[in-house]
Amino acid sequence: MRMSVIGCGYLGAVHAAAMASIGHDVIGIDVDERKVAALDAGSAPFFEPQLRELLAEGRASGRLRFSSRMADAAGAQVHFLAVGTPQIPGGHAADLRYVDAAIDELLPHLRAGDVIAGKSTVPVGTAARLAARVIDSGATVVWNPEFLREGWAVHDTLTPDRLVVGAETDSAGTRAVAVLRQVYAAAVAAGTPFLVTDLATAELVKGAANAFLATKISFINAMAEIAEASGADVALLADALGHDSRIGRRYLGAGIGFGGGCLPKDIRAFAARAEELGRGEAVGFLHEVDAINLRRRERAVRLVVDALGGLVFGRRIAVLGAAFKPFSDDIRDSPALDVAVRLRGLGADVVVTDPAALDNAAAAHPQLGYARHRDDALREADAVVIVTEWDEYRRDLSPTHAGGLVRGRLIIDGRNCLDAAAWRAAGWQYHGMGRR
Ligand code: UDX
Repeated sequence: MRMSVIGCGYLGAVHAAAMASIGHDVIGIDVDERKVAALDAGSAPFFEPQLRELLAEGRASGRLRFSSRMADAAGAQVHFLAVGTPQIPGGHAADLRYVDAAIDELLPHLRAGDVIAGKSTVPVGTAARLAARVIDSGATVVWNPEFLREGWAVHDTLTPDRLVVGAETDSAGTRAVAVLRQVYAAAVAAGTPFLVTDLATAELVKGAANAFLATKISFINAMAEIAEASGADVALLADALGHDSRIGRRYLGAGIGFGGGCLPKDIRAFAARAEELGRGEAVGFLHEVDAINLRRRERAVRLVVDALGGLVFGRRIAVLGAAFKPFSDDIRDSPALDVAVRLRGLGADVVVTDPAALDNAAAAHPQLGYARHRDDALREADAVVIVTEWDEYRRDLSPTHAGGLVRGRLIIDGRNCLDAAAWRAAGWQYHGMGRR
C-alpha cells in the first residue's frame, strides 16, 4: 500500500521504516531537511537498535523514501500523522501546533477516500476536531495510537501487543478501519489483537496507558520512601509484589524515576485535558505521581551528599549514564542528567559518561565534565553514581576493576541494578534507592 508518514522523529522514522519492511511503499515527510537527508541516505539521526538495518533495507528495496516536501505525500492511500506533541512552554497542556501545521499543509494534497491515521499522542477530542477540518476533502480521520518504547521501537512496531484503531461508525469510518486492517495484515494474521473503538477512546487509550505506567513506577518509588524510613528493602518488596499475577513485576523498578520524551509530558497533558473537561479531580493523583517521581532525583543527590559526609564541593563524581534509559540516546527530561546537573550545582566535579547519549548531553549541558570511556570517568572518582542501567555498567563493570580506578570506593546505585553483595564484598560502600 502507498502511504506517507508525516513527522520523522523517534516515532515516525521507525514507523516509516517498519512499514516499508513489511512491503508497503512509504514516503516519510519531515520539515527538517537535515534529518530528511540523513534518513534518505540510510543513516538514523538517533540511536535506535535495528533502525539502521531497516533503513538500509528500505533504500535497497526502493520502498522507502524521505522528503521535506508535503506535496510528495500526495497519492498515498494512508497518511500517518507522527509529529511531536510537546508540553506547551510555561504550561502543562500538549502543544498541538505541529499537528495543526501538518494538517494545514496536507490539506491541499488530500483526495476523497484518503485515510489520515493519527499516531501522535494527543488530548482527547483532537481527532474529532481534525476530522471536521478535513471534511471537505473527503478524507477520513482515524486514530491509531502508538505504544512503542524507545530502545525497542522496531520490535514494538513490528510485533505490537495490540493494535487500536478509533473511527466513526459511518461508512467512511468503517472503510478506513478496513484500510488499517490491511496495513497491519501481517500482525493481525499473527494473532495481534485489533481493537476498533470510537475516536475518543482510541485517544484516551494512549494517555491512560502512559498514566498507568507512570503511576506504577511512582507507586514503587513511594514504597521506596517508606522502605527508607522503616529499614525495609524496596527491591525485595517489588519481587514479592510482582509474583502476584494481578500486579506483575514489570514497571516496579524503584530508583531515580521516569523521564524521557513521553511519560512526564503525557501525564501532565492528560491532567490538563481532564481539567479542561471539568474532571480534574479524577486524575488529581497524577500530580502526586509527578511529585513522587521528581523527589527521587533529589533523594539520589542527598544519598551522594550524605555518603560523602556532606562535603561535595570540588569532589570528583563519576556519573554513569546520561540517557533517560538504556538503548537510547534520548536525554529529554532525563533523570540521569538531572542528577548530574544538581550535583554540579553543589560544586562537585562531575564527569558524565554514556555509551550513546554523550554528544546530546554535552550539547545541552556544557557545564558538566564528560568522558567518552567509562574507565576515564571512573579514574580518581571520590564517588560513583549509576543513573542509567546500561549493560556496560550493570553487567560488565566488575567492582574489582572499578575499585582499581577510583579514589573512593563509594557507589550510589540510582537504578538498583547492581549486585549489592558483590560490590560490598569488593570493599565498596554501596547505597541503593530504598534498599537496606
Ligand atoms: C513510554 C511507554 O512505555 C510507551 O508505551 C509509550 O509509547 C512512550 O512512553 P519510553 O518513554 O520509551 O516509553 O520508556 P519506558 O521504557 O516506558 O521508560 C520510561 C521511563 O521510566 C524511563 O526513564 C525508565 O528508566 C523509567 N522506568 C521504567 C523506571 O524508573 N522503572 C521501571 O520499572 C520502568
